[in-house]
Amino acid sequence: MKNTQVLLARRPAGVPRENDFRVVEDDVRALASGEFLVENLYLSLDAGFRNWMNEESGDDVLPAMPLDRPVMGLTLGRVCQSRHPDYAEGALLMARLAWEEYSISDGSDFIVRLESDGRYPLHYHLGVLGDTGMSAYFGLHDIGRPQPGETVLVSAAGGAVGSIAGQIARIHGARAVGLVGSAEKCARLCRDLGYDEAIDRSAPDVAERIAAACPEGVHVYFDSVGGPLLEQVLVHIAEGAGIPFGGAAPAYNAPVPLPGPSNLFALVLKSARLEGFMTHRNVDRYPEARSALSGWLDDGRLRSVEYIHEGVAQAGVGFCHLFEGRNFGKSVVRVRDDDASPARR
Ligand SMILES: NC(=O)c1ccc[n+]([C@@H]2O[C@H](COP(=O)([O-])OP(=O)(O)OC[C@H]3O[C@@H](n4cnc5c(N)ncnc54)[C@H](OP(=O)(O)O)[C@@H]3O)[C@@H](O)[C@H]2O)c1
Repeated sequence: MKNTQVLLARRPAGVPRENDFRVVEDDVRALASGEFLVENLYLSLDAGFRNWMNEESGDDVLPAMPLDRPVMGLTLGRVCQSRHPDYAEGALLMARLAWEEYSISDGSDFIVRLESDGRYPLHYHLGVLGDTGMSAYFGLHDIGRPQPGETVLVSAAGGAVGSIAGQIARIHGARAVGLVGSAEKCARLCRDLGYDEAIDRSAPDVAERIAAACPEGVHVYFDSVGGPLLEQVLVHIAEGAGIPFGGAAPAYNAPVPLPGPSNLFALVLKSARLEGFMTHRNVDRYPEARSALSGWLDDGRLRSVEYIHEGVAQAGVGFCHLFEGRNFGKSVVRVRDDDASPARR
């Protein structure tokens, strides 16, 4: 069986480029005892994985990605061959595997078993009902804790996490204000995702725009960016503000560590909380989050917007789009239709 794969050809210098990745075709090897083969249906493109493309990036979450190997990423797929007692053919899995058509696992990877009753498109399990929807849920519920009438400001608001976070804020009766990279995205944020206001983060007067959009201060800042933008927001935080800090996209591309905000003392003055979080550490609570998110999908208060690339070979291109601000909503690659999957038949 042939396996189209996307390899990390070289470590990106700064913003990732298309030729940092190389598409190859390999043969799927025979399974050893205790292994199973996953036929990937969708790949999730996540800005956070840029971090582990750096040479020095290995940590207790993930190792640094090796060169000339398939790029590590979250995938949604079905077991299509198995020599493992716990993973039967046909099982639907969300897993941390790789950008390739077929992945072999021995079960030691990060794997979440899924049941799909066909109510939602399968790729929702990588987005609104997957890691990114869960990030919005846990960040807001556990850390931000917005109250009715409060203002929730969201950075990278048009991305996978931000597109859900603003909607959840509104479900809780809060006002949602989003920061995005262009005027066009500002319009989409309000029109397609129901944000109350949107701010172009590239505008020279972004600090004034934040102040105008949040006249009573920022009660919750859902931050996926950090750095200078966080510094600007800290000027406007309200008393007792909560700041779920989930990512730092600009830092992943920086050759040297970026300076932090110079005004962290604002947290002291406002008795505010800034708290980092890693969604996968809440894996035991995924059913709770999935139940809340699917309930909101069902009653029409939450919608999912996707940015879909066709074919595994497009994974590198789609990944670059995340850092060029070209994506809107959850970025996924459709590898193949589930109905065409031999494991399904
Ligand atoms: N902690 C966790 O468990 C967890 C889980 C999932 C994701 N995350 C993190 O959350 C963040 C967002 O992830 P995502 O999947 O929602 O994003 P995404 O869909 O991958 O999109 C990333 C967004 O970041 C914005 N961006 C890119 N470069 C930027 C820059 N230099 N400054 C400011 N914004 C920039 C872009 O939007 P604009 O150009 O429109 O601003 C882009 O749409 C990432 O940092 C990721 O690592 C964390």
